[in-house]
Amino acid sequence: MRPAKDFFRPLAVGAPEPIREVPFPPSRMIHFFPAANEKMRSKVPAIAPTVDILLANLEDGVPADQKEAARAGLVEVAQTVDFGQTQFWTRVNSLDSPWALDDITAAVLECGEALDVIMIPKVEGPEDIHYVDRLLAQLEAKSGRTRPLLVHAILETARGVANVEEICAASPRMQGLSLGPADLAANRRMKTTRVGGGHPGYLVREDPPVGDDGETVIDATRATHQQDLWHYTIARMVDACVTHGILPFYGPFGDIKDTVACEDQFRNAYLLGCVGAWSLHPVQIDVAKKVFSPDPADVAHAQRVIEAMGDGTGALMLDGKMEDDASVKQCHVVVELAKRLSE
Ligand code: GLV
Ligand code: MG
Repeated sequence: MRPAKDFFRPLAVGAPEPIREVPFPPSRMIHFFPAANEKMRSKVPAIAPTVDILLANLEDGVPADQKEAARAGLVEVAQTVDFGQTQFWTRVNSLDSPWALDDITAAVLECGEALDVIMIPKVEGPEDIHYVDRLLAQLEAKSGRTRPLLVHAILETARGVANVEEICAASPRMQGLSLGPADLAANRRMKTTRVGGGHPGYLVREDPPVGDDGETVIDATRATHQQDLWHYTIARMVDACVTHGILPFYGPFGDIKDTVACEDQFRNAYLLGCVGAWSLHPVQIDVAKKVFSPDPADVAHAQRVIEAMGDGTGALMLDGKMEDDASVKQCHVVVELAKRLSE
């Protein structure tokens, strides 16, 4: 049986024409808080109305000797905070850890109906999702939950990336995927030491100039352009998610002070099709809100194209540019996302 969330309708496969934005609740940022930390927990009621998704983190970042405290913190927050329209998620420990079973059990049996989504880290293949799906079904039957918990998987191993299609399709509970660049970099043996973002060594250099003798001049001062380390994985994740009607997210950006580069990384993901990103600090909430809400100028332009295109078929020139059936579909995606976020 499909969980009753309307964003399971596939965007591309069998979608009615013209392609429209898939309805889903605002999901521009998944704001993490350490569930073991009492001071952070006390801030949850004030932060909850300012974010789209609030997530109690039990996994990486929580010291091994605080795992039980984090789990108890999740339960306390779930039982005491009114989340209103804000989605409430938790990230449990990985399935091969000594804590995962107790985390998932507490999430279903002790959190009442408060939890919307359970984030599973280090998912390697559909078998991980099948395991979680069956376990949740048992626990839900026992708990009397009236709506199924949804599952969000982090793509953070090479094997997970290789199996991304099967992971998306593994259960009707699948809500979405996040890119986990830190674990993925380690697992792939990438030679980076950062949590997301770029790297000054990952670049292309402009072509060498040609000298009077017709030979190229190898000049070390030629301009270079940094490339996005995560382009391939994000694009692959987006295609898999759209194919299966679930939502793609960029993950963490660890350089909290560098809000400029954070905005760039988030925008690359937004432009490639992601609906949101993680926020690890309150300053990143505003960055995500800005980036993952369509720019008003883009919305105004898209509205002009939609109006000019009438029934949405054919071709015309607007400001010297060709618009047609395909460009008007892109415009619908932007306008409908803006409309929903303003509701
Ligand atoms: C997130 O969990 C990451 O590993 O980047
Ligand atoms: Mg990770």
